[in-house]
Amino acid sequence: MLRSKIIATGSYAPERILRNQDLEKMVDTSDEWITERTGIKERRIADEKQAASDLAYEASKAALKGANLKSKDIDLIIVATVTGDMPVPSTACLLQDKLGARKAAAFDINAACSGFIYGLSVADSFIRSGTYKRILVVGAEILSKFTDWEDRSTCVLFGDGAGAAILEPTEEDRGIISTKIHSDGSLWELLNLPGGGSRNPVSKDTIKKRLHYLKMKGNETFKVAVRTLENLIVDTLKENKLKPSQLSLLIPHQANLRIIQATANRLDLPMDRVIVNLDRYGNTSAASIPIALDEAAKTGRVRDGNYILLEAFGGGLTWASALIKW
Ligand code: UT7
Repeated sequence: MLRSKIIATGSYAPERILRNQDLEKMVDTSDEWITERTGIKERRIADEKQAASDLAYEASKAALKGANLKSKDIDLIIVATVTGDMPVPSTACLLQDKLGARKAAAFDINAACSGFIYGLSVADSFIRSGTYKRILVVGAEILSKFTDWEDRSTCVLFGDGAGAAILEPTEEDRGIISTKIHSDGSLWELLNLPGGGSRNPVSKDTIKKRLHYLKMKGNETFKVAVRTLENLIVDTLKENKLKPSQLSLLIPHQANLRIIQATANRLDLPMDRVIVNLDRYGNTSAASIPIALDEAAKTGRVRDGNYILLEAFGGGLTWASALIKW
């Protein structure tokens, strides 16, 4: 049976670190509140000149190096982002240009924090159908440029970064076992960026109303996230006839430590089998899972034959899982 497997990963985070203590000087918040409610201690912030494709480029270069491939070997580039360089062209096309990956087709996916798993799901289908052989999937975000730094309910949460994975076909009994992607557009208002699109084109008025910044109803989103993710992971394991005890590692989207703990509890999974890095990066939306996956791979936390489960939840609303036999 033809499957796709991840042959290499890479990640990149900007150098500048913004700590909770720095935020205390910017808005009415405290390190204690942020740590207790989210688990976040610091996040990375891109510099003024960096755009999403620059972060994607660094992560992709690292993945290509790890795979011992040249950019011309890539058939398809998928970039998951909601903070692309510009509305047109896609960030994937800009990344293609930077990499010199001339033969590749390239497009973006907008599924917010679930974007990387959506990307894996699309890539997996292309590989299993025999359409493409080598696919680069990237999650890259610069949320700091869409964050309202005067809104304490959102500005403490987000960070910038990028992660990449390269997929290839395999006949072995390993690779991506299943992906599940879901959406519920009726709850779009919980998390959105209302300005700058065709609904509210940029004007003095949209800027005055701060519509060009991300809005989130955090508490409502939190409740839907916990319930939805619990069902998602239980269904994913059941459909694949796996017991939670057979999972070596859970790699969740890094939005909130309490959401991650609730998911782990539901599976009775000890926290040492769960990747948590939001204390260092905050919520990097589509980049959080590929960054965490890269760190897990580089620190020997995933080994050949291990079952690992990726899961995410985000704006749209969207949610998704990927079960992988490494
Ligand atoms: O990544 C994609 C999806 N996103 C998520 O999954 C995020 C989901 N949501 C969350 O992670 C949490 O809801 C937050 C971390 C955003 C907020 O935590 P919460 O426990 O839901 O707090 P809350 O929004 O109910 O606010 C509690 C209190 C409020 O004050 P009052 O009304 O109780 O007096 C807020 O005004 O905390 C206040 N508050 C803050 N206080 C200090 C809100 N933000 C802050 C802040 N510092 N930064």
